[in-house]
Amino acid sequence: MGFCLLIKMDIQKIKSMKGKEAITVLTCYGYPMARVLEEMGIDIILVGDSLGNVVLGYDTTKEVTVNDMVRHTGAVRRGAVSGFIVSDMPYKSDESVEMAVKNANLLMDNGADAVKVEGKPDICKALVSAGIAVMGHIGHLPQTAEKPVVHKDFNELFKQAEALQNAGCFAIVLEMVQSDIAKKITDFLTIPTIGIGAGPYCDGQVLVINDILGMYDNFKPKFVKRYAHINDDIRRAVKAYKKDVKTGEFPGEKYSFK
Ligand code: KIV
Repeated sequence: MGFCLLIKMDIQKIKSMKGKEAITVLTCYGYPMARVLEEMGIDIILVGDSLGNVVLGYDTTKEVTVNDMVRHTGAVRRGAVSGFIVSDMPYKSDESVEMAVKNANLLMDNGADAVKVEGKPDICKALVSAGIAVMGHIGHLPQTAEKPVVHKDFNELFKQAEALQNAGCFAIVLEMVQSDIAKKITDFLTIPTIGIGAGPYCDGQVLVINDILGMYDNFKPKFVKRYAHINDDIRRAVKAYKKDVKTGEFPGEKYSFK
């Protein structure tokens, strides 16, 4: 019988992977998936506020509340007992330093190892000073952007990345950033960059799990690679179950108590 040795990931290990080993990040919103991601050794499990789009059925991430994030962070922690979990600070949860610290602590108390903040270097700095590990996020910021566009302004992105590194962030997500600019930022920073639609030169990659599994097939952004078509499997299974029940094939004697 084989066994799997789980080594707990931490911020120092994540930082030390820069330039040596690609960092794998996937989003996750619940217990069953968290068990699988931990078993498969994903480096960082992100309880993203994409929860709003792919699980709760909202059009944007703005409807996601701190309570939603707390509940789903807890579920993910119960599935990934020793995984490194980052939870998104949802829209309007970090409008002041006091609010940000209070809400980040709620997420940490419910299983997060770190929080992710969209933009806001001052808030990131305050959270780090309060002892909370922070992942930054620049480029396309779904909580405030009108629509997704590829970010190309090198000077602006460079300034934002430097400010987040100086604020004490341990890593930065670059979302929808032109890949040559993502490369320059990655080369300049001493902390890892995690790309989503930011090309091959980042220190790690993140994607939304429902996108790669074909569980959110409303639309597919260009930067998403599909590794499975789970909705098709679900359709096949539900169709077969429906037929079995309608025809009396299920449960039969086999699935009944005598
Ligand atoms: O909420 C999310 O899924 C994210 C990723 C897109 C980085 O923030």
